[in-house]
Amino acid sequence: MPPRKIIIDTDPGQDDAVAILLALASPEEIDVLGITCVAGNVPLPLTTRNARIVCELAGRSEMAIYAGCDRPLGRDLVTAEHVHGKTGLDGPSLPEPTMPMADGHAVDYIIDQLRTHDEGTITLCPLGPLTNIATALQKAPEIASRIAEIVLMGGGYFEGGNITPTAEFNIYVDPQAADIVFKSGVPIVVMPLDVTHKALVTKPRNDAFRALGTPQGIAVAQMTDFFERFDKEKYGSEGAPLHDPCVTAYLIRPDLFKGRHINVEIETTSELTMGMTVADWWRVTDRAPNATFMNDIDADGFFTLLTERLARL
Ligand code: BDR
Ligand code: CA
Repeated sequence: MPPRKIIIDTDPGQDDAVAILLALASPEEIDVLGITCVAGNVPLPLTTRNARIVCELAGRSEMAIYAGCDRPLGRDLVTAEHVHGKTGLDGPSLPEPTMPMADGHAVDYIIDQLRTHDEGTITLCPLGPLTNIATALQKAPEIASRIAEIVLMGGGYFEGGNITPTAEFNIYVDPQAADIVFKSGVPIVVMPLDVTHKALVTKPRNDAFRALGTPQGIAVAQMTDFFERFDKEKYGSEGAPLHDPCVTAYLIRPDLFKGRHINVEIETTSELTMGMTVADWWRVTDRAPNATFMNDIDADGFFTLLTERLARL
């Protein structure tokens, strides 16, 4: 099987960084065509900076990285420096990037790639708010049928929310965009908090990253050390959840995940539950299934894969 062509849409973020490193370390399964940045964890100038830092850390300074939307479709931007630090990539001390950004807007890049590659050959991997993807679908609706699949991190059902009691951060930041994506008819795979809260960076798992002794292994250990302080306190768990790498791990080892093909809709009107992923897990409505909503992960298998792949960089 040739590697799967993907575009990573991201707001790095330490966990986004690990997701990108995992993809770049796995060329047999994943062909990263380009990286598109969006405002989310931190404002756009920082997410574009951080994406370049990560590519340089992976030795991939030729990667095409595009700047995208700097705010959600219809709301003010909400950021998450309280989790990710002031830069969004706090933890390791990495050099300022020198590689250039690609010319053009991320949304136009996404549209162009989907128009010029064969139909059904590009998978989109959103790791942040869905603003770029929704804007592309609005601007060029015909691309929907050309997307192979959207594999995204967002939402939560049994775990509730992490930014409000009912909403997960990526969906909460731009619920209108999420609504457009979930209604697009494109096949969607969702990695919600129900999965990512089982992908915990325990001390032995963090030690395994550090023990690689490589710049990438050490940086990943320092990144996960950083956001662990916040999450451990919040959840009282033995380590912080590593959200976004679940997306890129799924492309390599789908067998590590379990879920159900169900209907998922996005709350866009109630301020109380804004951004909630209303997942019909128990199939109590006759609303048509539109997403494979995961709820379980083989966490040991996931961390073994991640460590083994990081060692290849
Ligand atoms: C998601 O929000 C961000 O803070 C993380 O990078 C991840 O994409 C988890 O809710
Ligand atoms: Ca993210």
